[in-house]
Amino acid sequence: MARILTGIQSSGKPHLGNILGAILPGIKLSENPANESFFFIADWHSMTTIKDAQTRIDNVNAVAAAWLAFGFDTDKNFLYRQSAIPELTEITWYLSCFTPYPMLANAHSFKDKADKLSDVNAGLFTYPVLMTADIITFDANLVPVGKDQKQHLEMARDIAGTLNRHYNQELFALPDAQIDEQVMVVPGIDGQKMSKSYGNTIDIFQPDKALRKNIMKVITDSTPLEDPKDPDNDVTFKLYSLLASQEQIAALRAQYLGGNFGYGHAKQALFELVLEKFEGPRQRYFHYMENPAELDAVLRKGEEKVRVLAKQKLVLLRKAMGYVA
Ligand code: ADP
Ligand code: TRP
Repeated sequence: MARILTGIQSSGKPHLGNILGAILPGIKLSENPANESFFFIADWHSMTTIKDAQTRIDNVNAVAAAWLAFGFDTDKNFLYRQSAIPELTEITWYLSCFTPYPMLANAHSFKDKADKLSDVNAGLFTYPVLMTADIITFDANLVPVGKDQKQHLEMARDIAGTLNRHYNQELFALPDAQIDEQVMVVPGIDGQKMSKSYGNTIDIFQPDKALRKNIMKVITDSTPLEDPKDPDNDVTFKLYSLLASQEQIAALRAQYLGGNFGYGHAKQALFELVLEKFEGPRQRYFHYMENPAELDAVLRKGEEKVRVLAKQKLVLLRKAMGYVA
């Protein structure tokens, strides 16, 4: 049995890029009966940037609701908030005492911000240590992440190995990153990679009218309505292709090439496809967002189970390190 573990920071509402690039592939992995999945909301990591309480509550709910809306099975797997497992902070402390300063100074998450050190808080600097605790506390085997997290996974392996050697026992399993090189990069409405930080997202979890308006903003060139259009250089077509069947893609391609088919028509087709494809998940998402107590109950169920494991690991560590256990 492989233990799969991954975290999504609660730094915003999941967008189409997050859904196609992380949530759906994660759910697929979790459906393999040979796997047991720990998916959590990294709400402590989000503290490095987001300080407002209500924003955090909204984001945590949105991320949890998205996982559930797409069918994450919480009878077989675990969905939880990082902050509900306080043992992780104690473990982070122990791990931080084995983490050499140069390793953290070399982390991209820090280096990217290091040109303005006054903006770097200690939480951001030690972010990879908390991430290591998230992973090795539960002896995760496989950690599906984007390429940008590869270095953090190498640190997690290093730190786990250091403690195992130091205390001469198998305190932690060594995790492997699972980085899918094939993973699609979903373009945003401006044609760049879709990202919260570029403000170019498609938010499928908004009411129909707002969603349509969002999709109508996808960038196009200025080819006149009558003229044939190049589907391979068009963002609407790319987005449509990520969701449609082969037949639907071929039909839209023919319309692009045939002329007398405007970008407005293509965007309308994309909008209708999004509504059709995501009808069930959107309804479930809205349901959970309107019933936060239900969401909370699902999370608490996961947290209760996962916390038992974190406590066991803490006892093992405390004993190994000479603290009262
Ligand atoms: P954002 O760039 O919006 O801040 P995150 O960095 O929080 O998104 O990413 C969360 C997850 O979603 C990661 O696994 C990441 O690889 C995936 N992801 C984000 N944007 C895209 C995209 N445009 N296409 C595919 N996957 C994406
Ligand atoms: N740092 C990850 C990100 O920004 C989120 C994260 C926190 C995570 N802890 C984790 C991912 C543990 C995988 C495993 O995307």
